[in-house]
Amino acid sequence: GFELYLAQSDKTFTIPSDQSIADVLTTNGIEVELSCEQGICGTCLTRVVDGIPDHEDMYLSDAEHALNDQMTICVSRCKTPRLVLDL
Ligand code: FES
Repeated sequence: GFELYLAQSDKTFTIPSDQSIADVLTTNGIEVELSCEQGICGTCLTRVVDGIPDHEDMYLSDAEHALNDQMTICVSRCKTPRLVLDL
């Protein structure tokens, strides 16, 4: 798992290895836009403020993945202990 900090909301969550970022946020009453929830549509694309995402989606290109400035929160995770999102 890893720690998730929401920069706009000033909230911190722990994302366990068996739950997605979107799952944890939804469970905690944070509204996020979701559609496919499989990393295909790009609806859940979210700006990354800090941390290195572990991209699991098929929506962004390899070049976009390498920038690490946005991620799909339905499937992608984090390689660093802490992830900061622009939410
Ligand atoms: Fe479709 Fe995340 S909801 S890529």
